[in-house]
Order: sequence, then structure tokens, then C-alpha cells
Amino acid sequence: MHKDCEYILLSEEKISSIVKDMAKTISEDYKDKNLLLVGLLKGSVMFMTDLMKELTVDCKIDFICASSYGSGTESSGRVNIVKDVSQPLDGKDVLIVEDIIDSGNTLNFITKYFAAKNAASVRICTLLSKPDRRVVDIPVDYVGQEVPDEFVIGYGLDYDEKYRNLPYVGVLKPSVYS
Ligand code: PRP
Repeated sequence: MHKDCEYILLSEEKISSIVKDMAKTISEDYKDKNLLLVGLLKGSVMFMTDLMKELTVDCKIDFICASSYGSGTESSGRVNIVKDVSQPLDGKDVLIVEDIIDSGNTLNFITKYFAAKNAASVRICTLLSKPDRRVVDIPVDYVGQEVPDEFVIGYGLDYDEKYRNLPYVGVLKPSVYS
């Protein structure tokens, strides 16, 4: 375990099991659909690659990168598209792949943005969700695991751009950020 990690919240084995279960459900739900996975960079990178390997339906992939303005750990709800998807969404069944939903502000913006691009459908799958932090009540179609309001790192998730490469999800020691 990394020295800055207080404890491991989701082991590699647990993540693998969650991803496999979710991919099975998604594969059933998207039979005969025009599935486009859109990973929300950067946090979704590991989840996206693991999830797509487990899908048994055909899919295309794309990425979008958004940043939300805010102070400290709070997001303001104002979202800026840093890198947009690289294809038209008309007629596509878009599944947004996210690492964690906190306030819901980012996905509230992105789902509306994709709907305005004439996607046939827009759904959300997330590895982690922090329901205690929700500000905007967005419908989330696939949730891997609900987590407590702790600072989580690893498996794509960062603190100050570090720890994304850890293969597990851990809780950051408060001494690192306080
Ligand atoms: C994180 C996370 C979500 C968003 C969730 O991204 O990946 O996209 O915050 O927060 P919200 O529900 O309060 O909007 P971040 O902006 O830290 O960028 P990253 O993906 O590059 O880590």
C-alpha cells in the first residue's frame, strides 16, 4: 500500500468483480443498440479500459475532458469543455463512463450537452458515487459502489494529479492535504 494511503477501500480484486458485473448488465442492456462509450478524462481512464474489455457487445469509444471551476474541493457547477468528443453523436446511444460522482455538477452539464448534440440516448455509468455530497439530483444508471465522504485516490482518481496510477482505490491520509 502507498505510504500516503490510510487504507484500501476497494482492492484490485473487488474492482475487477464490480467491473465484470457492470459490463455484463451493460452488455445485456445495449444489445441491438448503437453504443458509444465516452470516457470523462482524466479520472475514468482505468475504469474505461477495464470496462470495455469486459463488454460483449460492439461499441465505439470517445473521450471528453471537462473542468469545473471552484475553490478547494468544492465544484461550482460551471463546467468548461477542455477537449470535446471527436465524432457526431446523432443517433448514438451514449454511455458516459465516470470514475466518481460527487456533487453531480459535472455530469449534470455533460448529459445536457450530449442531449443537445442529438444523441439517441444518454446514460451514465460510474465506478464510485458519493451520495452524501450530491448537490444536483442526476439519474445514474450504473453505479459500481457507493463510498463515504472520504478523499479517495487511485485507479484513476487523483489528489493534486498524483496517485492516479495506483491499481486500487484508497483513502488519502488527511495529513497529506490538511
Ligand atoms: C472529478 C471526477 C468527476 C468530477 C466529479 O474530476 O472525475 O469528473 O470530479 O465531481 P462532481 O460530481 O462534483 O462534478 P476532476 O474535475 O477532478 O478531473 P479529473 O477527472 O481529471 O480528475
